[in-house]
Amino acid sequence: MQPVTFNNTVLRDGHQSLAATRMSTAQMLPAAPILDSMGFSGLETWGGATIDACLRYLGENPFERLRALKQAAPNTPQIMLLRGQNIVQYTSFPDDVVAAFVRANSAAGQDIFRIFDALNDVRNLATAVTTVLDCGKHARGEICYTISPVHTIEAFVQLGVDLQKLGCHSIGIKDMSGIIAPRVAYDLVKELKRRVGLPVTLHTHDTAGLGAASYLAAIDAGVDAVETSIAPFANGTGQPDTVRMLAMLKGHPRCPEFDPAKLQQLRVYFDDVYKQLGKFTSPANERVDSDILIFQVPGGMLSNFRNQLAEQGMSDKFDEVVREIPLVREALGWIPLVTPTSQIVGTQAMMNVKFGRWKMICQPAQDIALGKYGKAPGPVNPDVLAQVEKASGQQVVTERPANLLAPAMDGLRQQCAAKGLPTDDETVVLFAMFPQQVEVLIKGGGAPAATPATVAASPAKPRQPASTTAGAGKHLIINVNGGRYDVTVERLD
Ligand code: CO
Repeated sequence: MQPVTFNNTVLRDGHQSLAATRMSTAQMLPAAPILDSMGFSGLETWGGATIDACLRYLGENPFERLRALKQAAPNTPQIMLLRGQNIVQYTSFPDDVVAAFVRANSAAGQDIFRIFDALNDVRNLATAVTTVLDCGKHARGEICYTISPVHTIEAFVQLGVDLQKLGCHSIGIKDMSGIIAPRVAYDLVKELKRRVGLPVTLHTHDTAGLGAASYLAAIDAGVDAVETSIAPFANGTGQPDTVRMLAMLKGHPRCPEFDPAKLQQLRVYFDDVYKQLGKFTSPANERVDSDILIFQVPGGMLSNFRNQLAEQGMSDKFDEVVREIPLVREALGWIPLVTPTSQIVGTQAMMNVKFGRWKMICQPAQDIALGKYGKAPGPVNPDVLAQVEKASGQQVVTERPANLLAPAMDGLRQQCAAKGLPTDDETVVLFAMFPQQVEVLIKGGGAPAATPATVAASPAKPRQPASTTAGAGKHLIINVNGGRYDVTVERLD
């Protein structure tokens, strides 16, 4: 039996989950050669919220980070997390922007692309996967794990088959909320291995305390790789710690080998970094919280909810709003809760409680109902859909949503030129997503403004009493008839 391999997430998901994505390249570089020398099957270093954090908070060019890490850790494949057609943002981008991003990223040294879509609509992965294949890099198609009546093992396996047909080299099970039970992990891995035949990776979070046990079950079922981090950027809302995982596998025929002295060296090093990032860490992220299992709502979303409801003067409505979440999910076709759908479902649940159920429907929830984010896993509630169609004067979009978006690279390049910015692909693809921040990074001066990317053209907007400013930074702003919902974006990657 082959030993299981570990991918290490400390340089991406570890600090995204436990320290608000604030680890700087300078804080990463001393650890990179050690991580590189240990036999991890991959180092997750890029994508998710790291691009945003580099530009918005750290004043760093994310491509320079990648090049520096490649130089410091040349022997281990580097992994990025890509939100399919959303790239690393919250709205959809045209195919030419997605393809240019993947090409620029490949040229800068990225090896493995973990690609997912919030609705698990494989059409939203197609452009990214095809471009990764063209670049000769590794495409890992991700299945967003969630719990609902339509999310059966059979449905997930079918998704795996579809990802294989798309040309993916491997399949990832992406349990962003940390809710996969060990037995489910076992069955899902077994079936994916049997029916799809590609290598399978399990990625989970220890939010509810299930992470390490689910890894163990998946390893028994033949999973090829699991993803671990280095404490203290591990456990809680992060990935299980490597040392802890090795201890659980002691005596197991698939236990991999890691140098304990180097693991200890990393622990000591990252303890220090964790202290430096103390402003961004929180006991709420470090502990196991079984609330997630009761509500089937990601932990980060619950804690954000408490704050948002307080701001709306609705603190007494917490239980009511949380109970509304599954109803909203069901009405919108049992969509998984992951960036950006988690924010949208949460906001709509809040509006249902405040104004009465489906009395007001926020723009992004309307867009989900209309298929503009892709095909939902289950049927959209026909009454809700009829109401949205009537209010918007629009019909359901059945084609691939990105088909409706015109190519944008030429226009973006002209915008860059007009602003005196470089017009190379790296700059242009970053500008597409973070225009103000890129300008500030390159020209210097002032704090980056949190304004949305205007170039992320979504399909023609209907006349609505509601509008959103999705896209930039940590806020999703939803205006409803004078009421303003400033929703903190909890990134669940
Ligand atoms: Co994750």
